[in-house]
Amino acid sequence: MDKSKRKAIIAGNWKMNKTPSQAKELLEAIKPLVADADCEVIACVPYVDLAVAVEATQGSNVKIGAENVHWAESGAFTGEISTGMLKEIGVEYVVLGHSERRQYFGETDETVNKRTKAALAAGLKPIVCVGELLWERECDITEEVIARQIKLDLWDVTEEELKNVVIAYEPVWAIGTGKTATADQAEEVCAFIRAQIAKLYNQEAADAVTIQYGGSMNDGNADELLGKVNVDGGLIGGASLVAEKFAAIVKAASK
Ligand code: 13P
Repeated sequence: MDKSKRKAIIAGNWKMNKTPSQAKELLEAIKPLVADADCEVIACVPYVDLAVAVEATQGSNVKIGAENVHWAESGAFTGEISTGMLKEIGVEYVVLGHSERRQYFGETDETVNKRTKAALAAGLKPIVCVGELLWERECDITEEVIARQIKLDLWDVTEEELKNVVIAYEPVWAIGTGKTATADQAEEVCAFIRAQIAKLYNQEAADAVTIQYGGSMNDGNADELLGKVNVDGGLIGGASLVAEKFAAIVKAASK
């Protein structure tokens, strides 16, 4: 399998951090540091930062993503944001099914699937997150959990649409804990995800899909994780909030 055929993508997931003025400041710091990146660079930022972020990155190689989106086009959904709203301000990507949404906000595979379908229909590129809990890993059901998530989250997504989907493997026990999956653990599950895609679609689709690892990835461990054949990029939390650290990860992905 030729890894170089796939798009390497480093995406920051800022979570609930940075006000609009702070977002502008961070993006201004990131831009020159990643200007010669040989991978795709994305910052997924809070809703209120999106307009500022799109403007600040205009003409640069940094793309902007949101951290969630609702599946309905409009209507009585207080507090929600639609795909049309994101599209109009120039957002390109959207993180979906993040474990924090699943854990704290009642997100299910069914709603992740609805969001994914809506995002694709609107021309947004979803970064669909999957990952097992520590308890599930300890019970040795990581593969069952991941297979189920992949199948349900991508239900009814066509092979053509899949070309615009990025998958992020984020073991929940490694998020914000400083506990990174070892490079071998990350590779094992990313390879498993690719095999599931081959089963659900075909080998060509599986070879082409970008699979990121996320969970305490930083400037110190990125090289090793990204060196694995099935790890095509990273979804970065904490380290994406520090320009130099984020840029170092982008550099590691550009090799
Ligand atoms: P950390 O990099 O802070 O562990 O977060 C990972 C993550 O959840 C990215 O979506």
